[in-house]
Order: sequence, then structure tokens, then C-alpha cells
Amino acid sequence: MRDPKFPLQNQVALVTGGNSGIGEGIVRCMAEAGAAVGVNYVSHPEAAEKIVDEIKRAGGKAVALEADVSKEDQVKAMFAQLLEEFGTIDIMVNNAGLQRDAALLEMTLEEWNLVIDINLTGQFLCSREAAREFLRRGVRPEISCAIGKIICVSSVHQIIPWAGHANYAASKGGINMMMQSIAQELAPQKIRINSIAPGAIKTPINRAAWETPEAEAQLLKLIPYGRAGVPRDIGDAAVWLASDKSDYVNGTTLFVDGGMTLYPGFATGG
Ligand code: BGC
Repeated sequence: MRDPKFPLQNQVALVTGGNSGIGEGIVRCMAEAGAAVGVNYVSHPEAAEKIVDEIKRAGGKAVALEADVSKEDQVKAMFAQLLEEFGTIDIMVNNAGLQRDAALLEMTLEEWNLVIDINLTGQFLCSREAAREFLRRGVRPEISCAIGKIICVSSVHQIIPWAGHANYAASKGGINMMMQSIAQELAPQKIRINSIAPGAIKTPINRAAWETPEAEAQLLKLIPYGRAGVPRDIGDAAVWLASDKSDYVNGTTLFVDGGMTLYPGFATGG
């Protein structure tokens, strides 16, 4: 019987953008759940190494892996390194993402392309490499019911339009359709693919929205539950979606947002 305290024991996870923000929260929660974790980064190697060291000192397994997820050759090299280190992959977490905010009339093609390349194309490239390895290796019933799990980190902005962020919202809407399409395609092969849509989680990407009391008060008007999220809120959800506890969950999006998608303006308006 599997130890319920370590639902991801003997599994290998790869988390893109694992050296900061939500990615770091997912890395830490998955390592605590027993997974060996590849901590991908594109900048700040020292942050990735620090997380890896802490996991190892706590008795876990982790490795830092450099790659720009929008570059096919770098993604392939990262997978080769991960497989060399841990033998295979069971859990792919497509987390790496960024914002380049601009009003439509000012948005440059570079800002548009960069956000689509990292947030959407990066998820495609990593999902494809992970699925190839899942299918090569096949099922190991003693490890997990599925042959592999893919978790796409989306956003509440896959459904909430966001003025001044058309590139970002489009990338997240795209993730939803990519996720559902590949989930439909690969379910018969026993690969489960789902998304997590975080709301406002306190990380560097949205620092301006929470770092002063005034900004945080404004932000909280959008969150019925009355607090901003922390990276572990997403990490805990990711562990569940990667574990056999969610084995019948496929092709869906789990909103982890304190109710941000409940149209809070309508609590008193409308
Ligand atoms: C964005 C954050 C924002 C949050 C809620 C996230 O996807 O990256 O900047 O605070 O959505 O609007």
C-alpha cells in the first residue's frame, strides 16, 4: 500500500519556472509529497540551486535544470538531463510564465510574441516531450494508475478578460483549449491532463498589486474569500492533481482563486 503521507513517492516531476513564485511552491509541495523534482529555471540559477539544496538536506531528491521553455532544442536537452538523473518522468508541471503588460495601442509585436512563446508554446513543447516519455515507458501500476500526468498552470484570466493584458489573457485562454484538446487525445493512452487556474497569488509577477496596504485593499475587493493566495495554495492543489486521489479527473480546470471568478462585483450590484 502507498504511504498516504507521500502520495507522489517514487515519481519524478518536472516543474518549469520552478525557482520562484508559484513554481517554487509547487516544487516544495511535490518534494514533500515524495517526488523527485526537476527544478527548471531560465535565470537566477542560484535560486534554483538553493531550493534543490534545501530539498536534498531534508532527505528529498531534486535537480536544477536550465532551459528556455520556448526553445525546442533547450527543452529537449532539459528532458535528456532529467531522464539521465532520474530515469523517467511521471508528472509534468507547465508553470513557466510571464507578463509584458501594455495597452493594445502601445503593445509591440515583441511583447505579444514573447508572452505567447513562453506561456503557450512552452507548455506545448514540454507537454509533447513529457507525453513521448510517458508512452515510451508505459504504465507502472505500483507507481500510479495513469502512465503520466500533465498539469498546466493557467490563470483566472483564461476566462476573465483583462484590459491592458491582451497578450497574457490570450495565452491563458489558449492554454485551456490546448489542455482540453490534448487531454481528449491522450486519455485513451492513460495520460491525465488538467489545468490549475490561480487567482491573485502573492509572487513577484504581481508585486505591485499587493506590496502596499492600499494596493492590497484594492486587490481584496476582487477576492470574496478575503485574502490573497500564497504559492503553497497552488502547490497543494498540484500534488492532488498529480496523485491517484484525482485519478478520474481529466481535462478540467481547477480554479484556486479564493472566489475571484465568482464576479464579486455582483455581490452588491447587478
Ligand atoms: C496574474 C497576476 C494577477 C492574477 C489575478 C494572474 O494570472 O499573473 O498578475 O494578480 O492573475 O488577476
